[in-house]
Amino acid sequence: MACRRDLPVQDIRAHMKEEEEKDLLRFMTCGSVDDGKSTLIGRLLYDSELILADQLASLAADSRTVGTQGGALDLALLVDGLQAEREQGITIDVAYRFFATGRRRFIVADTPGHEQYTRNTATGASTSDLAVILVDARKGVLTQTRRHLFIASLFGVRRFVLAVNKMDLVGWDEDTFNRIAGSYGDFAHGLDIDDAVCIPISALTGANVLRNRGEIPWYRGPGLMEVLETVDVATDLACRPFRMPVQWVNRPNPDFRGFCGTVASGAVRPGDTVKVYPSEKASTVARIVAHEGDLDAAVAGQSVTLVLDGEIDISRGDVLAAPENGPRTTDQFAARLLWMDEEPLLPQRRYLMKLGAKVTTAQVTDLRYRINIDTKEHVAAKTLGLNEVGYCNFALDQAVAFDPYRQVRETGGFILIDHFSNRTVGAGMIDFSLRRAANLTRQHLDVGKEFRAGQKGQKPCVLWLTGLSGSGKSTAANAIERRLAVLGRHSYLLDGDNVRHGINRDLGFTDADRVENIRRVAEIAKLFVDAGLMVLVAFISPFRDERRMARELVEEGEFVEIFVDAPLELCERRDPKGLYKKARAGEIRNFTGIDSAYEPPENPDIVLKTADHPAEELADQVVACLKERGYL
Ligand code: ADX
Repeated sequence: MACRRDLPVQDIRAHMKEEEEKDLLRFMTCGSVDDGKSTLIGRLLYDSELILADQLASLAADSRTVGTQGGALDLALLVDGLQAEREQGITIDVAYRFFATGRRRFIVADTPGHEQYTRNTATGASTSDLAVILVDARKGVLTQTRRHLFIASLFGVRRFVLAVNKMDLVGWDEDTFNRIAGSYGDFAHGLDIDDAVCIPISALTGANVLRNRGEIPWYRGPGLMEVLETVDVATDLACRPFRMPVQWVNRPNPDFRGFCGTVASGAVRPGDTVKVYPSEKASTVARIVAHEGDLDAAVAGQSVTLVLDGEIDISRGDVLAAPENGPRTTDQFAARLLWMDEEPLLPQRRYLMKLGAKVTTAQVTDLRYRINIDTKEHVAAKTLGLNEVGYCNFALDQAVAFDPYRQVRETGGFILIDHFSNRTVGAGMIDFSLRRAANLTRQHLDVGKEFRAGQKGQKPCVLWLTGLSGSGKSTAANAIERRLAVLGRHSYLLDGDNVRHGINRDLGFTDADRVENIRRVAEIAKLFVDAGLMVLVAFISPFRDERRMARELVEEGEFVEIFVDAPLELCERRDPKGLYKKARAGEIRNFTGIDSAYEPPENPDIVLKTADHPAEELADQVVACLKERGYL
């Protein structure tokens, strides 16, 4: 935290205590390159006398060497702490700064402007109560400005200040300002925000940065700092129902078991009844343990360890909450999603979802629409690309406790992670639970898989053949099934071309359609396994993610992945259906191996080299392997 320049050292403790008791505004600044954002923050700090003497000295030196103000103090340098930034003259990452004035403490997230950093705008917004959006008076409201406003409001910012900067460069012209304020107001209208003020400023001269000192005679509103110091932020999270996602169960010895986490909302005291979600078991808080010893209470924002009365089953990711007004529990919900990866979203693909401290697997079951950020229009879409926003239905592989994002960001916001690359690919905000999920239960069947399999005297399994078109999957699968028939086994062969004539007739060959194609056939294979059959699946199934999903749908040991391995050149030479020829001629698009990806298995159970061996031999190889593994 920066200290006031004139503060006597002996008063530092009292000062710090005083500071802690002031309320806190978390805000973010965003603007396009060159809007003067760093200069503005620098100006805020400088004019509020929040810069230390040594910082000032190094600022003066830097201003002379790398400054852009002809040797005079370049306030942007105060903020542009990153080396790369200084060299390129742009801001490249979210930087958090802490400062305080006589009235309030502040945390400012400085987020970069250009579109490829939408991720950072989202990051900054997710912890901010207010956003200062900068525009250059000469340029007005740009696509970027609308994006910032939209993304920040999406991530829960409810109050906005549009700072129209560089007013000095337009001769302090009132019409210019009014025009910008008008188009900003038009766009803000209809967004989920409470307050959108507009202030004409000059970060360079300081006009209206702190207070309105009359430099712009026609402007009668407050200065920027006045707004920041007085804006009413309804973030009194401490008054909301208690929530604490369990980050970690601390069990150093048999006598101590504590649940560690940060209080997301509300407050908790020893003696309070809390419920564990989703299990909804109740218990009483025995102790609140913190660094400095036991506490009488913990409130939103504090990290603590709770000790509860009695042994109760709680694991990482559960939410401890007030017994009344608890979070909701669901495995299907509707949410807004910002996609943040180069690879587009594939509905039906399984991604890791991190919600609070809980990690589950989730899929978008329905992309209801994409939102055109520039016009706020809802558009039909099959997928979301980088920096696109959509409204989606999600299905999870287990029930989770959540609050709508609008109510508690910590228990309503989530990220999606790609299984293989481990990249964070999306960030979402839960709206509401889907009823249909709540109205379904699983029906117990008296005749089970074991019985059905026993009747047939066999071990049910999925033999999953993957490989390029023309690699020989169907031929090999056929030969294997003939062997199984001879051995008296009950089987079924699901072949890509056949299934696409029936239940998957509606699907084409885009990545999204292939994901859905595999999801459906994997579900069908699972049902056949449940029926006690040995089921062969011969689909290109080009993506590792979906093959893994198919494996996870059935029980351990019920899935055998067979890689039908033939070089592309050979498949193309064989070209049994003449499709490669058409694909090369550009008559078929998205053809696997030509202009659509094939991800070979990394660890297949069996590899069949169709270039070197006839199908009958390969079938023998599979039968031998199945015998060895106890399937036959
Ligand atoms: S998958 O990729 O979704 O698993 P699937 O195995 O169902 O594909 O279907 C592949 C079959 O569809 C191929 O054997 C081929 O006959 C036919 N086909 C038609 N168009 C394409 C295409 N663009 N890419 C691959 N196969 C295609």
